[in-house]
Amino acid sequence: MDRDELVVTHGRALLTADGVAAVVPGDLRDPRAITGDLGVRALLDFNRPAAVLLTAVLHFADAPAGIIAELCRLLAPGSAVVISHACRNALPDEVEQEVVEVFADTDTPIALRTAEEIRTLFDGLDVAAPGVVPVAQWRPDHDLHYESPQIIGGVGTWRGRL
Ligand SMILES: C[S@@+](CC[C@H](N)C(=O)[O-])C[C@H]1O[C@@H](n2cnc3c(N)ncnc32)[C@H](O)[C@@H]1O
Repeated sequence: MDRDELVVTHGRALLTADGVAAVVPGDLRDPRAITGDLGVRALLDFNRPAAVLLTAVLHFADAPAGIIAELCRLLAPGSAVVISHACRNALPDEVEQEVVEVFADTDTPIALRTAEEIRTLFDGLDVAAPGVVPVAQWRPDHDLHYESPQIIGGVGTWRGRL
């Protein structure tokens, strides 16, 4: 069993026993294959709004805007899209280079993007307050004493027009 199969098997063992979750092996770059999975179709009604969590994953994609657009086309208007993404703005050059090198020889090389580039991923979505911010600053439920600007994100609602 390779690593991916192990992750899927483990996920199924943890999550699917009560029938309220499905675990699908798939590539985010082909969203239609994931949303078209029979197990997913049995659980979710794509005529009703859903929430899609794209947390800490789009920095592994070359063309994240295309993935989001494709997903939105598959979702009902009113659906929420949650995105968090590694941000290069606050990283010293040498740290950025180290991060890129760590992932360079893996199946998932990383693309650190600027805050501005990450904000454009929400184009066409209604962004909830407080906007696209360091994730620790997104509606914290207690006082924070740090900013964590290396990962920024937000929540957008798709209204049916991209
Ligand atoms: C930093 S983890 C984030 C996991 C989870 N989304 C979270 O927020 O805790 C990144 C995950 O993205 C997965 N990943 C990277 N590229 C992917 C792709 N093209 N399709 C599906 N998953 C991918 C990796 O296998 C890894 O599990």
